[in-house]
Amino acid sequence: MPNEQLQRLLPQIIEDLASRGWSRQDAFLPATLTHELAEECRRRAREGALNPAGTGRGQGLAVREGVRGDHIQWLEAGQAEACDQYLAAMDALRQALNRAFFLGLEDYESHFALYPPGAFYQKHLDRFRDDDRRTLSAVFYLNADWQPEQGGALRLYPEGGGELDVLPTAGTLVLFMSAELPHEVLPASRERLSLTGWFRRR
Ligand code: OGA
Ligand code: MN
Repeated sequence: MPNEQLQRLLPQIIEDLASRGWSRQDAFLPATLTHELAEECRRRAREGALNPAGTGRGQGLAVREGVRGDHIQWLEAGQAEACDQYLAAMDALRQALNRAFFLGLEDYESHFALYPPGAFYQKHLDRFRDDDRRTLSAVFYLNADWQPEQGGALRLYPEGGGELDVLPTAGTLVLFMSAELPHEVLPASRERLSLTGWFRRR
């Protein structure tokens, strides 16, 4: 991401996170890069590189399709130019957030996620009971021309009641405090692609 773009979005992101613990940006990365990331995700899916996601950690890790039905692959640097650009953008964001909040965010882990039609992820928090490193969650959506009637919203349950739906439209980034904001993924009538990740502290 060009640095000026991040500088332009940062004040709003910082204000949102400080005031309510979550933020949404509609055009976080350029459309061409977002499109390349979607193509990369589809290519990996075709090659069979995506696997059913598990829930829990360590001994408790298991695939539970009644809990979450997405297929994922963790990102590693150096695999694809588009992914490296995405990782660079998230690292620039990590450093900027550290300067603003003294959060001590040390790294960023992230995976492609593909929800087949009908798949969902039940209401949950992103922090593991036995591992509190995940601090800030980031979901970047890759789906061109998403229509509300196709479902697939990320439903947030902010403190103080109510619920808020975010459509998984290409270019949209959602950030939220991993330990504080319950959320779920509603089923969709079409395939739903994203890059989901977590800024972690030590
Ligand atoms: C997750 C998650 C949200 C989304 O993977 O933990 O909540 O909108 N994803 O894909
Ligand atoms: Mn989650």
